[in-house]
Amino acid sequence: MVRVMLALSSFALLLAQEPGEEKIPKENPYKSESDLARGKRLFLGHCAPCHGPSGDGGRGANLARPKLLRASDDAALFQVIKEGVPNTEMPGAFEMIDREIWQVAGYVRTLGRTAAENVPGDRVRGEQLFRNKGNCVRCHSVNGQGGRMGPELTEIGARRSAKYLRETLLAPETNVPEGFLMVRLKTKDGKEVSGVRLNEDTYSLQLRDLSDQPRSFWKQELAELHHDKGKSPMPSYRSVFSEAELADVVAYLVSLRGSL
Ligand code: HEC
Ligand code: HEC
Repeated sequence: MVRVMLALSSFALLLAQEPGEEKIPKENPYKSESDLARGKRLFLGHCAPCHGPSGDGGRGANLARPKLLRASDDAALFQVIKEGVPNTEMPGAFEMIDREIWQVAGYVRTLGRTAAENVPGDRVRGEQLFRNKGNCVRCHSVNGQGGRMGPELTEIGARRSAKYLRETLLAPETNVPEGFLMVRLKTKDGKEVSGVRLNEDTYSLQLRDLSDQPRSFWKQELAELHHDKGKSPMPSYRSVFSEAELADVVAYLVSLRGSL
């Protein structure tokens, strides 16, 4: 009798589930080191062309963030990767078996895990340095305030590691984010302008110049145009900040996590 009741109740449980739902575990079942390594290889082959090799986006969304809009938990992440996002460029991974999808999903989760790190500096002093001595606000905005030549930094602490941020301050050219390209040009009447490229096509070029103004040129007006790949208008702060000041600024940047 007891056995019959047990059988009946598990039958009822099965019926209570949505069709298909029982197939997706709530948590990723494949999370070992070798699963992650395989997930990384799959990611680089299948996803990096759109999401960038470090997942911080390009044609596809930025995946290097602790919370993903369409993938709040592992099961939802699995679903997004397997089915894609209808009516967007995000394709379903129909060529992958479920295990591979879990391996990629596990790797995607590591991209966003720049969890609040324990950094030694003082972020309040760091914010002062950011505004005053470093004058970072000339080129960067935080919460909508500041210049626009450099990337917006409102969520930078959620996207980048302390190590990366420190490196960027010492040697900006080691970490030029995708999409930033320095251009230098000389017009036929002798004006020299440089800045960050906003747009370029066969006939024209738009850039944001070093005083943060957007400007537009017809290519036929130009005598010279140089694309300085890997160059940055951002100065190195190696000789500007002391070691302690550098730590303070990094602590401030790490604390910038937007609403994440
Ligand atoms: C052809 C380009 C392309 C490829 C290839 C691609 N994606 Fe995407 N992906 C996108 C786009 C575009 C979006 C944003 C869709 C939208 O509007 O929400 C997206 C969204 C996502 C999201 C949701 C992000 C969020 O914030 O919720 C995840 C997760 C994701 N992709 C993972 C992957 C993985 C893993 C792969 C490889 C198996 C992959 N994508 C391959 C273009 C691509
Ligand atoms: C003259 C303009 C300028 C100034 C001043 C400047 N930056 Fe930048 N910064 C840029 C540009 C442009 C980039 C993007 C290209 C690159 O990485 O070199 C950038 C990139 C960065 C990045 C990397 C962003 C990412 O998503 O990877 C960080 C972090 C950063 N800057 C922080 C700072 C801080 C902190 C200061 C002040 C101590 C500062 N910057 C001063 C222009 C500037």
